[in-house]
Amino acid sequence: MLGNTATELLPHDEAAGRVVRGAFGDLENAIEQAVWLARAVTTYIDEALKALAAGDIDRAREAVRGGGTPLTAALAEHLDDARSGSVYDQPAAFEAFINGGGNVGLYQAVTEALGNLYARVRPSSLLDIGCGDGRALRPALTVEQAPASVTLVEPSETLLDSAVRALDGFQVDARHSRVEPFAAALPDDAVFDVAQSTFALHTLPHEVRDEVLADLVGHVGVLAVVEFDVPDLPHASPEHRRFLAEAYERGLTEYDADRTLVAQGFLMPVLTGQLVPGATRATWEQPASRWAEQVTRAGFTGVEVTRLHDYWWSPAFLLTASGSPTATTPRR
Ligand SMILES: C[S@@+](CC[C@H](N)C(=O)[O-])C[C@H]1O[C@@H](n2cnc3c(N)ncnc32)[C@H](O)[C@@H]1O
Repeated sequence: MLGNTATELLPHDEAAGRVVRGAFGDLENAIEQAVWLARAVTTYIDEALKALAAGDIDRAREAVRGGGTPLTAALAEHLDDARSGSVYDQPAAFEAFINGGGNVGLYQAVTEALGNLYARVRPSSLLDIGCGDGRALRPALTVEQAPASVTLVEPSETLLDSAVRALDGFQVDARHSRVEPFAAALPDDAVFDVAQSTFALHTLPHEVRDEVLADLVGHVGVLAVVEFDVPDLPHASPEHRRFLAEAYERGLTEYDADRTLVAQGFLMPVLTGQLVPGATRATWEQPASRWAEQVTRAGFTGVEVTRLHDYWWSPAFLLTASGSPTATTPRR
């Protein structure tokens, strides 16, 4: 392909032609070598991920020894650290991760989309499920049509406290709870004009999420879910390993000065933690189309899915759908 292009571009002047041919020849060699190297590195990573999934840490360590890409280097260091017992400051690593790289653009896109939703729906009541420290919610509430009353449901006391502090000036009903008991115990007359959840509903197993959504549908005007459109691939299959390798390679390159901290204290433990045998599953992600099917199954209607941001892990999307709150019930 490149060879053809080079030939087509060759000028009539022979001397100049030789120079151009030489330059393209070098370029072609360089590209060939880069492709070869990339294939070789991909093979090492794949070998390492396969070994991790088989619980063979030594073989994984051997596969990425002397790594030549951000991911091989990070994984090699992580596996060596695991042996030497060195531990990174994980809260600091997560802070660096969430406040840097693609998360900056991601959260901007999320808060803008939520703000636009409030401007359209003009809610007087809002429920945020798994609000975390409020980093997606707080900036969205700056739009004029944002509600004054917010209900927060969050099982982490530390994060809930941070969110409440961030929402100073708003009328806040803070529930230190998981969403499952909260949704199951909603009084008949409870209605939220908007119920939102950003990157939190994937923490529920699919069948538990079915129940939560079914419990919510009669109490929600508009449901807004932000999640990642993650492909459905068999665990540790060649396609899954390739997806992980490509995604983590991309993710790591988004960090520069603090790449080692982010990689060793957060991204590598997350990558290896989801592969090693006996790992406790912590996320139940799925493609956007399956999210749409799931909320429809729970009784929500008018489902719309909008792509929000091309994040390294997978594209983020906003799903909105209408619930069916009883018109006569008073607003919370
Ligand atoms: C990835 S964080 C997202 C936080 C926040 N919504 C944001 O966009 O930054 C996932 C959140 O879900 C919360 N969470 C986990 N399990 C939950 C459950 N069963 N019910 C409600 N929230 C849950 C976690 O504590 C965490 O704050």
